[in-house]
Amino acid sequence: MNESKVWARQTRFLHFGLAATVTFQLLISLVMEAPEAGEKRSVLESTTFEIHEWVGMAALLVVIIHWIWSLRAKDNSNLRFLFPWGKEGFSSMMKDLREIKSLKLPEGGGRGGLPGFVHGLGFLSATGMALTGGILFFILPEDGSKNATAELFHDIHGFIANFIWAYWWGHIAAAVIHKKMGHDTVKNMFDLS
Ligand code: HEM
Repeated sequence: MNESKVWARQTRFLHFGLAATVTFQLLISLVMEAPEAGEKRSVLESTTFEIHEWVGMAALLVVIIHWIWSLRAKDNSNLRFLFPWGKEGFSSMMKDLREIKSLKLPEGGGRGGLPGFVHGLGFLSATGMALTGGILFFILPEDGSKNATAELFHDIHGFIANFIWAYWWGHIAAAVIHKKMGHDTVKNMFDLS
């Protein structure tokens, strides 16, 4: 099998969309400032926040298309690979965990089991960020006078951000390890031909 076809073309495009928008959102969040009642923001802080809102809506679109795709996908981006709750998927994940316990690196890449589930967790966190952000997009008042609902979604958005940051660093580390071990994982996933 041609290695670059480990993942379907649609999966590779959606993964690229998620990687690009989430990375952009994480980096811009270091500069931007949301409106806060009675506080003045610099042009840089307010403009970057506007950009965060719009790129976040693009991320939400990618997430929604990904869910629709993963419901029916024939490749390993199907929901049953991302969330291995079935008998077969679960036992494959337990086998991977046993290998890790005996200090062996399980086979990575395009399959279910532990690698599939790790992708599933990242997909869930990105969904949480995009959904809470998408709600904030509509309910966050421009003058920063947040009501209790806006405050709640703002807090949940900030809470999930911790997971998505950890996941982002972990994903980069995994990509470097694959590269060092001579695997074509990164090349295969980012092949957009
Ligand atoms: C996948 C999409 C998104 C990602 C990955 C993302 C990521 C982040 C991150 C990392 C933070 C900083 C959290 C913290 O340090 O407490 C943040 C803050 C925030 N985001 Fe998003 N975001 C996304 C979509 C959106 C959307 C669509 C909106 C629409 C309004 C939004 C509104 C906010 C607000 C209001 C804050 C708080 C900023 C502040 O308190 O200064 N986000 N986001």
